[in-house]
Amino acid sequence: MNNRQAAELTQQYLMPTYSQLPVAFVRGEGSRLWDADGNQYLDFVAGIAVLGPGHCHPKVTAAICEQAKTLMHTSNLYHIPQQAELARKLVQLSCADRAFFCNSGAEANEAAIKLARKWAGLHRVPDCREIITANMSFHGRTLLTVTATGQEKYRKPFYPLPTGFKYVDFSDLAALEAAIDEKTCAVILEPIQAEGGINVPEPGYLPKVKELCEQNNMLLIFDEVQTGMGRTGEWFGYMDEGAEPDIFTLAKSLGGGFPVGACLAKEDVAQAFEPGDHAATFGGNHLACTAALAAIDAIESEEMVDNAKAMGQYFKQRVEALKADCEFLAGVRGRGLLLGLELQNVDGRELQKVCLENGLVVNALGEDLLRIAPPLNISKDDIDEGLNIIATAAANG
Ligand SMILES: Cc1ncc(COP(=O)(O)O)c(C=O)c1O
Repeated sequence: MNNRQAAELTQQYLMPTYSQLPVAFVRGEGSRLWDADGNQYLDFVAGIAVLGPGHCHPKVTAAICEQAKTLMHTSNLYHIPQQAELARKLVQLSCADRAFFCNSGAEANEAAIKLARKWAGLHRVPDCREIITANMSFHGRTLLTVTATGQEKYRKPFYPLPTGFKYVDFSDLAALEAAIDEKTCAVILEPIQAEGGINVPEPGYLPKVKELCEQNNMLLIFDEVQTGMGRTGEWFGYMDEGAEPDIFTLAKSLGGGFPVGACLAKEDVAQAFEPGDHAATFGGNHLACTAALAAIDAIESEEMVDNAKAMGQYFKQRVEALKADCEFLAGVRGRGLLLGLELQNVDGRELQKVCLENGLVVNALGEDLLRIAPPLNISKDDIDEGLNIIATAAANG
């Protein structure tokens, strides 16, 4: 099947939930992809921050193949050694004490919201169930997580929605403080808003939110689905300013390309759940947890978190240096390898298409921003190559 045939089949048989670019990738290795017509690409999207260790990292691929031959799935009715090992590893890497596993970011956030409400039912007054979330946030597409998402365009077509959320501007401490009342049990935030436009909060904002949560006996939930697992140049986005959450969620890069999500929490909060409160049939099965353990091993042994920090800085330096000669480059924001390339006088969505035609995969977040989220082990040469393609595409586009 070539690119065109894949597009035709997609149009005929799939629900029209995505507007795809005209390419079907069939093979990947590290930061490179190949399409069904044999063209090669440099990948600055990494499956939207999923392929932390790069495409088909040998450790991840080998572990999945071996486990697939041994045992893929039983059930959470029984102990799963790899799940317990993965929980221990994530606890060792973070401020959390316990984990619950699921299959996606939305599911991880559902677990976090249920846990916060269950905790509030036990430790606060019974109708203390409201959660404050931020405008321009993104927390998933289930009815509950789309309600937690502070973007009306994602919610509006699906009314009636669950209740229990209040929306305030991101990085506005006074607005958050004003929104807190006796019904507020938690605040949910991304340490850096990703889908909403790579919005980095003001320095000191997250620690102050943490303080407000402590003062008001509320839980702090960080959605680390996109920022977690080394993406921001720390293992988790909250670490940059040391504002430890009570609950945080992971998915995307956790399984190195294999679907797995997690909700992690401090001991006293995690203990609010009891048998029967929450479950996921596939959550944390042998295959998924083996993939995640191998992905973490790859990231750790090849020091990819440090590389993400260093390459993020290098990317920013290169953009600053290029700005003088490239009038379409307005700047760059973000941290580590979760970056937003700010554009002017050029349409990001058009630029994304021209880059693709020239062998670079980038993702437009609206008209004036490209999301840059390559594998964490990307090299300086790859960054130079990608920036050259962007510069040429913008100049000719
Ligand atoms: C911060 C954040 N939370 C949650 C999600 C939802 O994850 P999933 O698509 O795996 O449900 C996303 C997806 O982009 C995300 O970026």
